[in-house]
Amino acid sequence: MVRLSELDTLPLPGRRVPNQELILAREELLAKASGFERIECDFGAAKGKFLSESAVLNPAVFFVGIEGLSVRVSRTNKKKARLGLKNGAVWRGWGKESLDALIPDGFLDTLHVSFPDPWPKHRHWFRRLVNREFLEIAARKLKPLSERISGGVLRLMTDHPGYFIAMKDHLAEQGGWEETSWEDELERPITEFETIFLAKDDPIGRIALKRAKRP
Ligand SMILES: C[S@@+](CC[C@H](N)C(=O)[O-])C[C@H]1O[C@@H](n2cnc3c(N)ncnc32)[C@H](O)[C@@H]1O
Repeated sequence: MVRLSELDTLPLPGRRVPNQELILAREELLAKASGFERIECDFGAAKGKFLSESAVLNPAVFFVGIEGLSVRVSRTNKKKARLGLKNGAVWRGWGKESLDALIPDGFLDTLHVSFPDPWPKHRHWFRRLVNREFLEIAARKLKPLSERISGGVLRLMTDHPGYFIAMKDHLAEQGGWEETSWEDELERPITEFETIFLAKDDPIGRIALKRAKRP
């Protein structure tokens, strides 16, 4: 007999991803990522171009991917196995809940959200990933700022000018973020969608943020 309170966490038919499986996958992630200098997450990892190239370029960093489409997840993990990469893995997950379920709090040096679906029509904006609730989870997942470490960084990219403005509005509304330099110490490959937009010469909005120092 299923209690009403459990309904939210059950893999109902038609639900795209049983995110509760990710809570179990967290143990697997912790084991795989153990011993690496830095941990980065690519949310919406697609076919894994950015993740696998990042892993090759930066062997001291572990890259965890979350992607909603299982066919893309298995393709990326197969590619990773073919290349013999030990410093990356992708899990299937959907929405901000999957970030919360898979990633422990204070775990990430960097969270990449590159070209999330823009949902250009006003009536679909509620489906956009980057909103106040997502940012609250993101802030919790990044390494906290301390006297010793500078804290985790959120890197957002979009080709949609309206979405870029909305992202910045949500960041300002939530508060506690400060912009930091886009360039950092790691080699950053181009993402799948970035390749497409760069070829079309489309403008790309990019912003990197860390949690602000308390006054
Ligand atoms: C526009 S593509 C961008 C892919 C990649 N980040 C890049 O820059 O090339 C968005 C990707 O995010 C995935 N996605 C979209 N919404 C998602 C969600 N709510 N949860 C998890 N994945 C999602 C899609 O399946 C797709 O692979």
